[in-house]
Amino acid sequence: MKGVVLAGGLGTRLNPLTKVTNKHLLPVYDRPMIYYPIQTLVNAGIEEIMLVTGGNNAGDFLKLLGNGHEFGLKHLNYTYQQGEGGIADALRLAEHFADGEQICVVLGDNIIEGNIAGAAQAFRDQKVGAKILLKEVSDPQRFGVPALKGKRVVQIEEKPIKPASPYAVIGIYFYDAQVFHIINTLEPSGRGELEITDVNNAYVQLDQLTWDVLDGWWTDAGTIQSLYLANQLVAKTGANKMEEAE
Ligand code: G1P
Repeated sequence: MKGVVLAGGLGTRLNPLTKVTNKHLLPVYDRPMIYYPIQTLVNAGIEEIMLVTGGNNAGDFLKLLGNGHEFGLKHLNYTYQQGEGGIADALRLAEHFADGEQICVVLGDNIIEGNIAGAAQAFRDQKVGAKILLKEVSDPQRFGVPALKGKRVVQIEEKPIKPASPYAVIGIYFYDAQVFHIINTLEPSGRGELEITDVNNAYVQLDQLTWDVLDGWWTDAGTIQSLYLANQLVAKTGANKMEEAE
């Protein structure tokens, strides 16, 4: 399985912090934000990783991360997203890199307490389709939210006014090679982006989407409130622990 970290976008929800730099280069406690999703992949035993960046600061990622030696990697792959086409549009750029293999996609502002090694192994064994990870939250309206029927996802709604469950679809996704065909069939959403939720709903239609609930805390860091929360959580308990989180 290969790994893809999506770290493009303009980060406008964090203005003025993102006026002169990329969101994913901002500090979360003692490390730049981008360190956390890379460590998430490395802790899942994924060694071939591509970073999708964009904007005016793409070169700074190379300066910061180089070949990924700090993470024990032999090399890191980079690609550049032109403009702001959304998460699924950024993922499209990883098709050549994925080369038909399974991928684990992590949004560059998603930070977890524990690790996804178990889910990654379950997806290797699943072989076909996709897998998402869910976390119960107090504000599901901010996220993609699944309607569940037993072990099946019936549908995922992006930022619903009336959430069908208390779960957020977190920004860590497992896909087989069909994902790139699916992205090519998508239409831009109301916010003008190719939505990752539409990708996941395509797998629901194929009856090939599985899910697990993530252990330990999870947060994104894309708004002032969630960036502040991420700093507090990492300072208090640390992130990307190898042992199972409580
Ligand atoms: C994105 C996804 C959403 C998901 C969230 C997780 O939201 O669209 O489905 O729940 O990431 O961080 P965005 O950050 O683009 O608002």
